[in-house]
Amino acid sequence: MKSTPNRAVDRQKQIYLAGLQGKRTHIPIDLKQIIEICRNRLPRDAFDYIDGGAGREDTIKENRRAFDRWRITPRMLVDVSEVNTEVSLFGASYASPFFLCPIGVLELAHPQADLAVAQAAEDVDLPLMISNQSSMDMESITATAPTCATFFQLYWSKSDDLVRSLVQRAEKVGCRGIVVTLDTTFLGWRVRDLDNASLPFLVGKGIAQYTSDPVFRDLVLEESGMPSAGRLNWHAIKAFFSMAQRHPGSTFQNLRSRVGLKSVQKFINIYIRPSLTWDDLGFLRSITKLPIILKGILHTSDAKRAHDEGVDAIYVSNHGGRQIDGAIGALDALTSISKELNGNVPILFDSGVRGGSDAYKALALGATMVGIGRPYVYALAAGGELGVHEQLENMLAEFELTMALCGSTSLSEVDIDHLYRG
Ligand code: GLV
Repeated sequence: MKSTPNRAVDRQKQIYLAGLQGKRTHIPIDLKQIIEICRNRLPRDAFDYIDGGAGREDTIKENRRAFDRWRITPRMLVDVSEVNTEVSLFGASYASPFFLCPIGVLELAHPQADLAVAQAAEDVDLPLMISNQSSMDMESITATAPTCATFFQLYWSKSDDLVRSLVQRAEKVGCRGIVVTLDTTFLGWRVRDLDNASLPFLVGKGIAQYTSDPVFRDLVLEESGMPSAGRLNWHAIKAFFSMAQRHPGSTFQNLRSRVGLKSVQKFINIYIRPSLTWDDLGFLRSITKLPIILKGILHTSDAKRAHDEGVDAIYVSNHGGRQIDGAIGALDALTSISKELNGNVPILFDSGVRGGSDAYKALALGATMVGIGRPYVYALAAGGELGVHEQLENMLAEFELTMALCGSTSLSEVDIDHLYRG
């Protein structure tokens, strides 16, 4: 499939011509303004959970600094009337090298949450990584956007049976790969969330993949005894209600049986397995034929080991600076890892991507595909499904224009020769 910079030019035309009639886009083009809308619209704890990171948030800043250190050096007198942004991964071809990162608890940004995002991703023809911590179950997400290419992001639970069940469900709904997040053996030290004393999972948000899972539900049933809700003040009653309301079935029955509370407790106890090691990967390989992608790789030795272990793709990410304050900027890690792997295995990348030209830099440094993360969540909060749609369109348009303006007519021409390290 040939793509052309027309798409980007069309987008510009559409915006400028609408301007002649006094119309503006649904959400601003400028991400800083979108973030401000999001900040003003959402309760503080919701905004902080989305926007915040680990510690003093130095890694969030470092992700940006790593991008700023690389400058683009365009080439001239190249025929760019046609630009091909097509990429292939695991034998499938995609119209552009972007995907939507797995992001949990999208209901914090908008009640339509994952459904709005999946619909926008489908409309714009971008693959979506469904989060293990999503607000809606994977069956509803894929039913809403049946032609959207999806991958499933897995948090490796302490229960092998649950891991197997989640993976089987992902296969059944047509996911094209399992993205195992490795960097969250524990949640990072997130100062804003700690100061707000707020974690969405504790009120039953972001655990839909679990409460919809037959194995998880059996595990909850096995819990004997009634968990205590603690001292009942107004906050505790609200939390208790929120858990019951989000659990499948009647809220009244859920309140009576305390199943919402039990599910949250079970989730907290088993959703991640801190003891996970390389030796466990064989189990995943034994239960699925889907490609396995390891997410959260930052060290060249881990990347090499992953390749030696035969994983299908490496996903370089520092979780958007949410896990280790002071971690290496993800783009710097990408630079060394892609050198080490020398094109032998696909590399997915996220953390710090805020515009189309960032994606250009990441691809030039060896990424096969680039993840859009927080920008689509801010857009979701600011403008719902249409907001996400516009945000994705704008990213694609800026990327295609950057390619054309750089004299790169296909992704194979997006290379380090177009970059300068300042
Ligand atoms: C979970 O993955 C988070 O980053 O909060």
